[in-house]
Amino acid sequence: MSEKTIPHVWDEEDFEAIREAHCVHRKGITISQAVEQYSTWSRKYEKDLCPGRYKGPMIAGKVVADYFEDDREKKKIIDIAAGTGFVAEHLKTHGFVHIDALEPSSKMLLRAKEKGLYEDYYTEYLCEVQLPIPNDTYDCAVSSGGMGEGHIPCSGIPEMIRIVKPGGIICIIMREVFLRDVDEYKDRLEPLMDSLEKEGKWRQVSRVIIPNYFIVMSGIVFLYRVI
Ligand SMILES: C[S@@+](CC[C@H](N)C(=O)[O-])C[C@H]1O[C@@H](n2cnc3c(N)ncnc32)[C@H](O)[C@@H]1O
Repeated sequence: MSEKTIPHVWDEEDFEAIREAHCVHRKGITISQAVEQYSTWSRKYEKDLCPGRYKGPMIAGKVVADYFEDDREKKKIIDIAAGTGFVAEHLKTHGFVHIDALEPSSKMLLRAKEKGLYEDYYTEYLCEVQLPIPNDTYDCAVSSGGMGEGHIPCSGIPEMIRIVKPGGIICIIMREVFLRDVDEYKDRLEPLMDSLEKEGKWRQVSRVIIPNYFIVMSGIVFLYRVI
């Protein structure tokens, strides 16, 4: 029986994970409130968002690995909104070695540091402010779960492009419903992505809907190649 046909049987821990996720994405939450909330959640985050409930990091690892079939050990990757390091864990299983983390919550990042997953750690927000990273540094920027109410704003997208080399890729994975429910993104995020494509900054490689990305909620995976 395929995964799609198995009805999800909800348990109390699913509801607890949804309550926590709702808290960090509640309507009107500011960027600093969301990050503070993640710091509070950091002790329990990995238990609540375990692989059976949240597939973003696994998908991120696979999408990046499928794109880079060769020389994975030479690619330089930045994991944006790295949290406790789930995405890096998956990237490493695919043979990637050089991975940096960008994450504004020092408590989430502390967990990633304890696991020794990254080379450089940037305790920073991705937004319209220029990061302390030179142009064209990375072969890949990947972000899973970094988009949402009070999370990465649209203005962070050009900054992502700036730090990726021409020919490099950007992979953004998020809950699909946020494209409609988050005012920052509704009628703004995809039009911005399209206009950056028309300006010749990047080109869309794929746009894929993923069922059951977070428990029963769908995700969307954007993959772009920087020009
Ligand atoms: C759902 S967690 C995802 C963590 C990790 N990528 C994963 O898949 O487990 C979202 C993360 O986004 C971070 N975040 C929120 N706003 C951000 C911003 N403007 N720039 C970068 N990271 C941000 C939060 O601190 C949090 O750790």
